[in-house]
Amino acid sequence: MTSTSTSRSAEPGTVLITGPTRNLGRHTTLALASRGADLLLVGRAGPDLTAVAGAARARGARVHEIACDLSRLADVRAAAAAVRDLLAAGTVRPLRALVANAGVMSADTRRASADGYELTFAVNYLAHARLIGDLLGSFTAPARVVLVGSNTYRANFWRRLLHVPEAKWADPIELARPAAGVSGIAYSNAKLAILYYAHELQRHAGGGVNVSVFEPGWMPGTALGRDAPAAVQAIGRALGRVPGVSTPRRSGPLLAAMAVDEKWARLRDGAFVVKTKPVDVHPVAVDRERERRLWAATAELLERADPASAFP
Ligand SMILES: NC(=O)c1ccc[n+]([C@@H]2O[C@H](COP(=O)([O-])OP(=O)(O)OC[C@H]3O[C@@H](n4cnc5c(N)ncnc54)[C@H](OP(=O)(O)O)[C@@H]3O)[C@@H](O)[C@H]2O)c1
Repeated sequence: MTSTSTSRSAEPGTVLITGPTRNLGRHTTLALASRGADLLLVGRAGPDLTAVAGAARARGARVHEIACDLSRLADVRAAAAAVRDLLAAGTVRPLRALVANAGVMSADTRRASADGYELTFAVNYLAHARLIGDLLGSFTAPARVVLVGSNTYRANFWRRLLHVPEAKWADPIELARPAAGVSGIAYSNAKLAILYYAHELQRHAGGGVNVSVFEPGWMPGTALGRDAPAAVQAIGRALGRVPGVSTPRRSGPLLAAMAVDEKWARLRDGAFVVKTKPVDVHPVAVDRERERRLWAATAELLERADPASAFP
C-alpha cells in the first residue's frame, strides 16, 4: 500500500457506528467522516451525541443521529427500524458497514439491563446481536461488520498483574443472568462471546457481508473503567499519557480503516486484528459447538425479551 488515499474504498457509502459519543467511538466517527462516509450514529441521546454529530458534519459528512440506549432491546429494535427507513427512503447511501463499538464494563455483575440481562453481556454482546440481526438484510454488498473485541478474553502476564480475570465460559443463558460474580469477568466473557459470535455470524451472513473483529490495544483512562474506584481511574488516566500506549486518538482511525479501507476488504470469518495486525486467536476462542449454542441461546434471549421478534 503506497498511500492511505489509494487504500481507501472508492465509495464508502453509509457506515453505522454504535457508541460514537466518546473515546474510541468518537475518534473512529471523525476518521470515518474524513473518509467521506455517510454516518448513522447510534448512541444515547444527549449533548455528547449532538456534539460528535456536529464535529463529523464539520468534516463534510452527512450524519444522522439515532438515539438508542443499548441496554434496552426495544430501543435497539427501534434504532434498526429507523435505519431501515432511512435506507428505504434513499436519505442515505447504501449501508456498507456496521461498527459495533459501544461497550461497558460494569464492575457489579448484579446490574441488569432493562430486559433483565446482566448489563455488560447485554450492552457489549446482546444489543449488537439484535441490531446486526435486524439489519442483516439491509446491507449492500460488499459490506462489512466490524465488531470490537478485547484480548481480555484470555490471561497474560500483564492482565494477571492487573487482576483482569480471563473469560470463564458458561452456557450463554447463565452468562446473561445477573448474579454476584467476580468483577471484570462479565466483560471478558462478553468479549469472548463476540469472538464466537463473529465466527457464527459469518456462517449466517453469506458472501456479501464480511465479518471481522478489531482490538484497539489497551487504552487506559477511557470511560470504560468509569465504574472503577477513583484511585484506579486516576492510575488509568496517568498510564494513558505514557508514550506509545494505545489511545482512542490513535486507534480510532485504525478502526475506521477496518470499516472502509480497501486494505481490509477481504478480511472475513471473524478475523481478529490487533490495531493493524491480523492475529490468530487463542484456541479457546474457536469452538464450533459453543458458537452454535451461542447463536441458539441468543435467539432464545432475544425472543424472551420480545416474543414477536425473530432472530435470523
Ligand atoms: N479501553 C480499552 O482499553 C479497550 C481495550 C479493548 C477493547 N475496548 C473496547 O473498545 C470499545 C470502546 O471502548 P472505550 O474505551 O472507548 O470506552 P468508553 O470510553 O467507555 O466508551 C464507550 C462507548 O459506548 C457507549 N455506551 C455504553 N453503554 C451504552 C448504552 N447502554 N447505550 C448506548 N451506548 C452505550 C458509550 O456511550 P455514553 O457516552 O452514552 O456513555 C460510549 O460512547 C468497547 O467495545 C471496549 O470494550 C476498549
